[in-house]
Amino acid sequence: MISKPMEHALLDQLNREFSSAYLYLAMSAYCSHLEFNGAASWFKLQYEEEHLHATRIYNYLVEQGVHVVLGEVACPPSDFGKLPDVFNTALTHEQSMTSLLNDLSDQALKEKDHATYNLLQWFVNEQVEEEATLGGIISKLKLVKEDGYGLLMIDNELGARQTASSAA
Ligand code: FEO
Repeated sequence: MISKPMEHALLDQLNREFSSAYLYLAMSAYCSHLEFNGAASWFKLQYEEEHLHATRIYNYLVEQGVHVVLGEVACPPSDFGKLPDVFNTALTHEQSMTSLLNDLSDQALKEKDHATYNLLQWFVNEQVEEEATLGGIISKLKLVKEDGYGLLMIDNELGARQTASSAA
C-alpha cells in the first residue's frame, strides 16, 4: 500500500518515462533523417530502455493495487540541430530526470515508504550510468568537431550497441 501523494508522484514519473521513450524515438527518427544510422540505432535502443523503465514503474504500481490511469505523452520536437546537439539535449534531459528521481526518493524516505524507496534507488543508480554514457559520447563528439571522418567513426561505434541496457 502506498500513499495517495506517492501514487500521484509515481504516476507522473510513469508518464515521464513514456515521454522519455517518445523523445528518444524522435531523436532516432531525426538521426535517420540526417543519415547518422548508427546514432539512429543507438537512440532506438534508448527508446526501448525507457519503455522498460516505464514498465518497471507500471508493474510496481499494479502490484501496489493502484488503478493506473495513463495520461497524455508530451509531443517531442522534430528538429534537434547537429549531431552533438542531439546528445547534449539527451544529457540535459537525463540530468532533469535525475533531479526528479532524487526528489521522489526524498519523498519516499520522508514517508518511510521503503518499498518505493528501493524501487527508486534502482532508477537513481541507472541515472548515473545514463549520464556517464551520454557524457562519454559528447566528449568524443567534441574531439572530432566537424570532421566528417571522425563523425562517421563515432556513428559506426554508436551503431555497434546491441541492446537496451536495463531489464524491467
Ligand atoms: Fe528512464 Fe533515461 O531515464
